[in-house]
Amino acid sequence: MNELVNSFMTGPDDKGRFGDFGGRFVSETLMPLILELEERYTYAKTDQSFWDEMHFLWKHYVGRPSPLYLAERLTERLGGAKVYMKRDELNHTGAHKINNVLGQIILARRMGKTRIIAETGAGQHGVATATVCAKFGLKCVVYMGAHDVERQQPNVFRMRLLGAEVVPVTSGRGTLKDAMNDALRDWVTNVRDTFYCIGTVAGPHPYPAMVRDFQSIIGKEVREQMHEAEGRLPDTVVAAIGGGSNAMGLFHPFLDDKEVRIIGVEAGGKGVNDRMEHCASLTGGRPGVLHGNRTYLLQDDDGQILEGFSISAGLDYPGIGPEHAWLHEIGRAEYVAITDAEALEAFQLCCETEGIIPALEPSHALAHVTKIAPELPSDHIICMNMCGRGDKDIFTVAKALGHDMG
Ligand SMILES: Cc1ncc(COP(=O)(O)O)c(C=O)c1O
Repeated sequence: MNELVNSFMTGPDDKGRFGDFGGRFVSETLMPLILELEERYTYAKTDQSFWDEMHFLWKHYVGRPSPLYLAERLTERLGGAKVYMKRDELNHTGAHKINNVLGQIILARRMGKTRIIAETGAGQHGVATATVCAKFGLKCVVYMGAHDVERQQPNVFRMRLLGAEVVPVTSGRGTLKDAMNDALRDWVTNVRDTFYCIGTVAGPHPYPAMVRDFQSIIGKEVREQMHEAEGRLPDTVVAAIGGGSNAMGLFHPFLDDKEVRIIGVEAGGKGVNDRMEHCASLTGGRPGVLHGNRTYLLQDDDGQILEGFSISAGLDYPGIGPEHAWLHEIGRAEYVAITDAEALEAFQLCCETEGIIPALEPSHALAHVTKIAPELPSDHIICMNMCGRGDKDIFTVAKALGHDMG
């Protein structure tokens, strides 16, 4: 039998489905664009010159490979498993988002598009998009929920410095879901010259697979670096999940290694209960359709999408990428939730023990590591994705910890 038949690495199918999830639920006006994008991406994937350009810019512009770092003092403090961090917060612009943005914008240029639109939550995807647009001289418009504009001020200013137009979105609760709605509306209206650069593994096919493919550089590097450091694969990989792109990037190259335990960490906000003040779509949601794909969503009894809640703007999304929904259903990956309070504690622990100020998003992943590591033996290797740095979050953290920043 062809060994790929049983491989996790082959999804999605030709309709863009991962089991019952994913697909392409879009208006007729969007369909030709989506089909053109799929065709061009399918071609690019096998075009060596496309990957040569990617690898050149990953190396010289982004600074890849990012280091794999043994967190010695944290490991000592937790007193169990060995904890490694994949240092994607050291990338240009401070997060993993640029890995994917480069891929989509190189593709957009090859498609002759001159105007790039994006949605952003924490602002990291917006900053990455504005950055790469500035580099290539492309017009850039970023949709951002009004609530996020307020709590991620440093990133809003960064995007404007980079020449992007930032459009605050006031519908809904003014977060990522609302920004994505407006970006999709813009795309339908400006089909001719515009490319929609999506920041996570969500949206209609081919976005979830395409974004995953670009982010998989994270897991591919971890495989190589872990072999160099330890002579073997990690036992457990852990990553935080908003839409799920840094997590899919870390997980995907390990899906066929059944011995590697895979854990995705959702935002538990104020606690996963009936009040729905969290963003744990797999832990507290059920399947439905949003933003062009079928996946787990936070919704009420009538199927209305709920707003969700998290201290972390980047995790504040009521859905999750369809491939995660599928991995959850088939049991290949585990998904857990971490509350705001637990993430804040891990944030401080990371600052104090490792001299690394993490973003609030990976602080969720780290919080879960602090729960499991003490119970595991010292020869167990955990690798967590440090997918963003915390500069953007210091005001939020100061407020949460009751510090007066003046
Ligand atoms: C640093 C960081 N990590 C994680 C996320 C969540 O996105 P994803 O789940 O697609 O990695 C964001 C989103 O803005 C982010 O800025």
